[in-house]
Amino acid sequence: MILKDKHIILGITGSIAAYKAAYIIRGLVKKGAEVQVVITPAGKEFITPLTLSTLSSHPVISEFFSNRDGTWNSHVDLGLWADAMLIAPATASTIGKMANGIADNMLITTYLSCKAPVFVAPAMDLDMFSHPSTQQNLERLRSFGNRIIEPAEGELASHLVGKGRMEEPDKIIEVLEDFFSAQKDLEKKKILITAGPTYEKIDPVRFIGNYSSGKMGFALAEACAERGAEVTLVAGPVSLKTHHPAIKRIDVESAGEMYQAAMTAFPSSDAAILCAAVADYRPENASEQKIKRETEREMTLHLVPNPDIAASLGAIKREGQVMVGFALETNDEATHAEGKLKRKNLDFIVLNSLRDQGAGFRCDTNKITIIDNAGGVTSYPLKTKREVACDIVNKLVTLLK
Ligand code: PMT
Repeated sequence: MILKDKHIILGITGSIAAYKAAYIIRGLVKKGAEVQVVITPAGKEFITPLTLSTLSSHPVISEFFSNRDGTWNSHVDLGLWADAMLIAPATASTIGKMANGIADNMLITTYLSCKAPVFVAPAMDLDMFSHPSTQQNLERLRSFGNRIIEPAEGELASHLVGKGRMEEPDKIIEVLEDFFSAQKDLEKKKILITAGPTYEKIDPVRFIGNYSSGKMGFALAEACAERGAEVTLVAGPVSLKTHHPAIKRIDVESAGEMYQAAMTAFPSSDAAILCAAVADYRPENASEQKIKRETEREMTLHLVPNPDIAASLGAIKREGQVMVGFALETNDEATHAEGKLKRKNLDFIVLNSLRDQGAGFRCDTNKITIIDNAGGVTSYPLKTKREVACDIVNKLVTLLK
């Protein structure tokens, strides 16, 4: 009963998905949580306070002044009472107000006073959701440390519904459970993470690279930092931002630079997660000037091997340090992954295959199998990279002393 006695503020806004808030309350209460509903004036057009107060066993708060007798609802007290605040459904308007501190209703003032972690489940139609204004506001909320709960892309495809649909109540409750069960179990741990691709220069305008976006490695960095770790994230060239203040980011371009940064950080780390897609080869000599086309002549690039970062760290791994590698495969997946696990002296390896739809490069989801050095094999269904990161960190925690 992870949610037992947890104090949850449920913020409800004016969306057609407001009826689902009733299921969220029922689910949370069933799991032992105490729920206090704060609803916007527009929210009350979609679901009655009577339904909500009956389910939560608490009067619903909507106005600053509920009675005309001089008493008022204190958003500050509410903010301090909460172990978490969940805003579900969150409309584009409320998200915009949260992002810009427009405190014109009880829900937003409570949000601004809230010291507890905040979870936001957006609900709107696809066009509103995709608008740069909404996306920018969501990005701002992420940068404040708020967690945005969205259905996974794979899930959207299977339900034939568009982006912007609110995540299902049971999934939202699962996110809260994951959060409370995972809290701070990496406190005082230092974790090195490599992420993204590497670029190997051919000349000033060309390189050898790969499709890695950095999403998987960045999700791992956020997950470790949220759980209390001090993270050194060595990132290849990607356009992603980091959000958590406990992430120290070192941007690199080539495998050589990534190798240097990783070798420097590893000795003082408790664990390393090697998620980067590192180029195994680089041009022997990068041209200083742009190589010109010579009509009809073939061109040969002479490539030399890059250092294997994982294997080099594996060779200097101390007793007590834990190393996690990744294997991106296209065929004979398990055999190749097991070979890498042994060769690189890893504690476990995360296998993802390009044969699985929604797995691997660039997408927001992944499908993994964890193979450990004691022969244990666990396969997981398709999940968001954020959820996958949580599964990987759960495994890592069991190995760290
Ligand atoms: O970044 P995304 O778009 O989110 O995509 C995520 C991902 C597909 C890149 C990620 O999930 C993944 O699989 N990363 C590892 C990809 C890879 O290069 O795998 P590999 O099988 O070639 O390498 C095996 C392991 O050795 C990896 O841990 C890799 O980081 C490491 N390695 C490889 C070569 C090298 N020279 N140095 C290394 O450290």
